[in-house]
Amino acid sequence: VLPVLTTQLDAARSVLPAEVFDYYAAGSGDELTLDESAASWLRYRLRPRALRDVSSVSLATRLLGEEVSMPIAIAPTAFHRLAHPDAEIATVTGAAAAGALFVLSTRSSTRIAEVGAAAAGPWWFQVYVMHDRALTEKVVRTAVDAGASALVLTGDTPFVGRKRKVGRVRIALPDDHFLVNVRDHLAPGADGQIAAAQDPSIDLQTIEWLAGLSGLPVIVKGVLRGDVAVECLDAGAAGVIVSNHGGRQLDRAVPSALVLPEVVDAVGGRGLVMVDGGIGSGADVLVALALGASAVMVGRSVLWALASAGAAGVQELLSALGEDLAHVMALAGAKDLASVDRSLVTRA
Ligand SMILES: Cc1cc2nc3c(=O)[nH]c(=O)nc-3n(C[C@H](O)[C@H](O)[C@H](O)COP(=O)(O)O)c2cc1C
Repeated sequence: VLPVLTTQLDAARSVLPAEVFDYYAAGSGDELTLDESAASWLRYRLRPRALRDVSSVSLATRLLGEEVSMPIAIAPTAFHRLAHPDAEIATVTGAAAAGALFVLSTRSSTRIAEVGAAAAGPWWFQVYVMHDRALTEKVVRTAVDAGASALVLTGDTPFVGRKRKVGRVRIALPDDHFLVNVRDHLAPGADGQIAAAQDPSIDLQTIEWLAGLSGLPVIVKGVLRGDVAVECLDAGAAGVIVSNHGGRQLDRAVPSALVLPEVVDAVGGRGLVMVDGGIGSGADVLVALALGASAVMVGRSVLWALASAGAAGVQELLSALGEDLAHVMALAGAKDLASVDRSLVTRA
């Protein structure tokens, strides 16, 4: 793990109330999937190419047409105001300063329109489809109007996974910042928690529904099988994100690193493949890229960065990960992302 991650984690631990730290850190069930996620990237080794001109290394790429300066994006996570008073404004500012893509959660603690107005770089909107489809539609339309350039449909959360460490988190969040995007559309006195509960009946047809109402590409997050990735593409998705939700949904789910090759092979270049879960260094990112991902996302480490130093912390984290990636790419003989292919990795 990169030193800055450890420093920021320690800083976050010292500034955050224990129940907030636990809410962010928690995994579901016995936390087996959470525990395995970082270690699973270590199951691969790199096969460097000698004698390649790596005097300058470029990390620049395009994700669904958006130019970014690195293949490292910010995963959607809920309630940034628990981490820092500047909340999602700080996160989107830090992301833009580093030239990275930001994915805003449905469960943000800053209004979508405010985040869109503050965004100086590309951002996507993560959708939780709620029981009330009209409400979901209003939230999605707000994101489209605010400038989101793609939708990330989270497909692994029909119900929120049970976490033993979590229980008291609502206390820490003032009511007006809790589920703010949903609350805006509710009748006075309606229960935001109930209205925001995910609809467990969503299925592959939901992809087309979201694409139709938004006019945006839809990427499905939480895909851990090649066959399901193909079903998503056939149903109109622009891509998939290989993810087990940071070990917060189905405990004992497979680590992203181990199923990434299967998903990449099944997709076969028909759509974008991204991956998250336990990414903590440039070498982890390089392994993911070599296995065929176009980019990775980072979740908890951004929350620790935000808690430790707001926008500057987020920028510092992303820049450090980018620099580390450029360094290991140079040592592996890859001067740009086009030179990264599967021959760079082997199973340990
Ligand atoms: C505190 C927390 C909140 C999260 N909230 C969301 C969310 O609102 N929507 C979503 O699709 N994923 C959510 N996730 C999952 C992340 O998008 C991502 O898949 C995961 O954190 C990646 O693993 P990492 O934390 O090891 O980097 C959340 C994760 C954490 C830790």
